[in-house]
Amino acid sequence: MATLGNVKTDLAYQKCLSPACGTTYDVGEVRTACDRCGGLLDVAYDWDRLPVPDSLSWFERKWARRNEPLCRSGVWRFHELLPFAAPEKIVTIGEGQTPLHLTDGVGEYIGLDAGKLYLEYEGMNPSGSFKDNGMTAAFTHAHTIGAKRAACASTGNTSASLALYCCASKLMQAVIFIGSGKISYGKLSQALDYGALTVQIEGDFDDAMQRVREVSEQLGIYLVNSVNPFRLEGQKTIMFRVLESLDWEVPDWIVVPGGNLGNSSAFGKAFHELHELGLIDRMPRLAVINAAGADTLYELYENRGLRYNHGHPNTEVVDKYYAELDAAAAKADTIASAIEINRPVNLMKCIRALECCDGVVREVTDQEILDAKAQVGANGLGCEPASAASVAGAKMLREQGVIAPSDRVVCILTGHQLKDPTATVAYHTTDQDEFERVLGKRGVSRAAFANRAVKVANDLAEIVQAIQLNS
Ligand code: F0G
Repeated sequence: MATLGNVKTDLAYQKCLSPACGTTYDVGEVRTACDRCGGLLDVAYDWDRLPVPDSLSWFERKWARRNEPLCRSGVWRFHELLPFAAPEKIVTIGEGQTPLHLTDGVGEYIGLDAGKLYLEYEGMNPSGSFKDNGMTAAFTHAHTIGAKRAACASTGNTSASLALYCCASKLMQAVIFIGSGKISYGKLSQALDYGALTVQIEGDFDDAMQRVREVSEQLGIYLVNSVNPFRLEGQKTIMFRVLESLDWEVPDWIVVPGGNLGNSSAFGKAFHELHELGLIDRMPRLAVINAAGADTLYELYENRGLRYNHGHPNTEVVDKYYAELDAAAAKADTIASAIEINRPVNLMKCIRALECCDGVVREVTDQEILDAKAQVGANGLGCEPASAASVAGAKMLREQGVIAPSDRVVCILTGHQLKDPTATVAYHTTDQDEFERVLGKRGVSRAAFANRAVKVANDLAEIVQAIQLNS
């Protein structure tokens, strides 16, 4: 088995997703779509000629070399499974040091037996979300091809991550596009602090996404949104770390929130490749959870029968749905602002992942999201609203009998609690009337697990009494 550094980049290439097209491109080209058919691109490898270990436990030996940045990174210590980059070009800021927590309290809330619910805490990344897994990979590709500016549209986390890689490495300028209104202050503050050129356009994420594609093309700026296939290579490692924490045993379920559908797509690719390489002997099932106010995948997959059909998806279903959205001028709307997306760019890759992982899709309400988020917090972890969609979705699937009490379930907590303190404080402290007034229009009327602040006069006796009454 070869060591890090023996990987030759000519053994990696880019390939159109569509089997009918299958056009390939050099790994050094900058593309976000296939020239011939407009489809998404994958990073593909000539595995037969690459040094792949015969067992996943081989990766454990990297721990002994954790003083080396490429072994310490939770992404790059799996370099052999994303071998597109020359080691000397890799840009790492220590991403991927993320723990998998066995969390029985949340498991009980979901309805699982003790010892069955794990939360993968991606909020522990340097910029506070899972995005750093993909950003280190896309940024490395950008650096390899000599980019000096990198751009993204974002609901806040991708932009925070890009801004951090740019300012920490001093290799590129970050140009970020955000919609007006919905970005949480935690995320906006990161982009501003890290010095990103921040362009706030009138419109929502879907509008910003369309514009950033046009602008990047026109100005030759490197695009790091998850249409960039290198991003997804980095995000595969979230699953490698989950397996590592489970002593390389495949869980029954992976449950993940769905926004632009990069994560779910990357997870499917990760498991497919591990299976093809003989490194795992079975596939987990995948559940992708939409917010009810941004439920394109749910609508298409569960209600309108969209399927990947082994590379021949019934795309007319998608075109028809998008035409309906346009006709109704429909805009996504959810308190989980990170996943407030109606036109997920990775839709085709995600339905491929759903096919290969026998997947299901569910939608959960803002009420269910906020209650699940409070349960995550009350059990010693914290997450932003979008992340809690995974827990709310697992609970729904358990109640529907799709997930069994004895199944081993991993929910991905995609972003840190402090990303969106406004939602948390509103849930816990706003009095019930005010809460209903502010959030009622979203169908949120009850903060079931609110930990309300006790209001008391500035008087010692009253303070003591209040504490005794509430202890
Ligand atoms: N959770 C969080 C915290 C996110 O920030 C995002 C996406 C998702 C889930 C959805 O992941 O797109 O892979 O399905 N945030 C993007 C952004 C869109 O701009 O930060 P996905």
